[in-house]
Amino acid sequence: MTAFPSIDTLQQSLRDSGYFADRRLATAVFLALKLQRPLLLEGEPGVGKTELAKALAVALQRTLLRLQCYDGLELREALYEWNYAAQLLHMRAAEGKESIEQVEREVYQDRYLIRRPLLQALQAPEPGAVLLIDEVDRADEPFEAFLLEYLGEYQVSIPEIGTIRARAVPVTILTSNRTRELNDAVKRRCLYHWLDYPERERELAIVRSRVPEAGEVLSRQVADFVGRLRSQPFANAFQRAPGIAESVEWAKALVALDTLVIDPEVIADTAGILFKQREDVAALTRDLSAELLKPEPQAA
Ligand SMILES: Nc1ncnc2c1ncn2[C@@H]1O[C@H](COP(=O)(O)OP(=O)(O)OP(=O)(O)O)[C@@H](O)[C@H]1O
Ligand SMILES: [Mg+2]
Repeated sequence: MTAFPSIDTLQQSLRDSGYFADRRLATAVFLALKLQRPLLLEGEPGVGKTELAKALAVALQRTLLRLQCYDGLELREALYEWNYAAQLLHMRAAEGKESIEQVEREVYQDRYLIRRPLLQALQAPEPGAVLLIDEVDRADEPFEAFLLEYLGEYQVSIPEIGTIRARAVPVTILTSNRTRELNDAVKRRCLYHWLDYPERERELAIVRSRVPEAGEVLSRQVADFVGRLRSQPFANAFQRAPGIAESVEWAKALVALDTLVIDPEVIADTAGILFKQREDVAALTRDLSAELLKPEPQAA
């Protein structure tokens, strides 16, 4: 059962947790909850993928468990490992007093099991946890293959214990920056949503809510300027467009500099907040800034 009777209530609830989702994203989340399917969010950096999982956990009042993926991520960090030191002590204590078989049974007890996020998610009590598998494209393919059982059936197999099934289905969000294409088998088990840059009104709402001290005029200028930067033909000048995270940071920086009205000067001074690549910072010339600041031609 989903905690939200409608897409509108879900959208509002996320909003109350500080997250602005458009209708399409809210629909994807609603369906993921209703159909109890993992949700794979792909998108450029800083568009709110990770933040969605955090806000959803708040909205659902569930614990957020987070698995940060990277190349070389191992099962003992994702799923479980045994507490070897404690097992060793147990064996020492049992030495000579118990049979080998008995010791073997005892060292694989629950209390020597160290649970990592995936196992914690499966064993979380009702109503279940929110599991964020963040930046899954950074993990390697064997890890993706391992995830299939979890994603498809919400269960995992541990050799010494057997199959562990979810007590309550965890709300599972995977994110990817698309540094590489994910395995089709992973994708098939998930609902998919491409998270795009926000439209102007939503970006403005985010800046207003995250940086209330910016004031209405400055917030509008930030949303307009960044929106135009990302639009054609300007976007062609850059390798990577600024995300929402950059808009928010930029608004904060402008407030810190007591900026009332943005001009090419202050843009040049703060370009390193909008762009994280040297070439992109250089591409944001004063002339281009002046061009971007011109009022948009009104449609006839
Ligand atoms: N829809 C949104 N509503 C409110 N704030 C948002 C939203 N999207 C992004 N933000 C803001 O942008 C910041 C960055 O978002 P987030 O970390 O979720 O990006 P990401 O897509 O996970 O990026 P990366 O791929 O680099 O991890 C958040 O901390 C938040 O301040
Ligand atoms: Mg992220």
